[in-house]
Amino acid sequence: MKIVLGPSSRELGEKIVELTGFQKVPVASRVFPDGESYIRLEASVKDEHVAIVQTTCMPQDSNLMQLAFLANAAKRNGATKVTAVVPYLAYARQDKIFLEGENISVETVAAMLKAAGIDQLITVNVHAESVLTIFPFPAQTFSAIPLLAEYFVKKGHKKAFALAPDKGAMHIAQQAQTVLGGEAGNLEKQRDRHTGQTSQTGKHLNVKGETVIIFDDIISTGGTIVGAARILKEQGAAHIYTACVHGLLVGDAEKRILNAGIEEIVATDSVPSKNSKVTLAPLISQALKAL
Ligand code: R5P
Repeated sequence: MKIVLGPSSRELGEKIVELTGFQKVPVASRVFPDGESYIRLEASVKDEHVAIVQTTCMPQDSNLMQLAFLANAAKRNGATKVTAVVPYLAYARQDKIFLEGENISVETVAAMLKAAGIDQLITVNVHAESVLTIFPFPAQTFSAIPLLAEYFVKKGHKKAFALAPDKGAMHIAQQAQTVLGGEAGNLEKQRDRHTGQTSQTGKHLNVKGETVIIFDDIISTGGTIVGAARILKEQGAAHIYTACVHGLLVGDAEKRILNAGIEEIVATDSVPSKNSKVTLAPLISQALKAL
């Protein structure tokens, strides 16, 4: 297997090369003055199974197009099989029709990737596992939550309370709990489908005087985490941290979260930023070696 270093995940790709010992395929990329993307594979992929490491966080549309271009280039240059390693899978949250007249975004993404030549997909903490069945080729998701929880154990927070900000994330909090060895619980979140606004409520949790880590798959605007922090403070939590797999952190999300009294934001390199304190390289390397 060879690892294609997609422009949006170059550093992660290099780490995977280091851990797996697979050869790398560097990529030349640039953006034309009109905004269109250009890519070129800079090593041979002839008769190879290639894994293209390319996340599709912001700017989602151009990162997706680059992924499709890389797959097309790989097939045109003789690759026998193309596995897309997409740590953050864009558009996965629009996986069904919520309101009449909508589309299913991830269905279009899946068809586009198939047409580009992708044969298989590996992603991390996809928002809902049912999304994987939409892809017309094998698609797998792996969880980075144990790696995030280990980060906190190493920092001395063994036995911290693992909190899910809504019921849907409770399985995530439970995975963290397995590593942390403390308690786990969840809040409730309601979303207005027309405005997108969310509100949260919290039953009594055993957090008075405790260290609490809020775990979620995605932090986007930070509204969910800020709402959770408010409830935790009302219930007397002593220290609050937050961990997510995909730290999109749009606009002033980071500032809002820190202003809400959260002591640290920890994310993975599925969305490269200064908050990417946990690398997905060991998780993805293991998955690739098992193929
Ligand atoms: C939604 O259900 C997700 O798991 C996250 O809770 C959500 O995407 C976070 O969004 P925001 O940071 O904008 O509240």
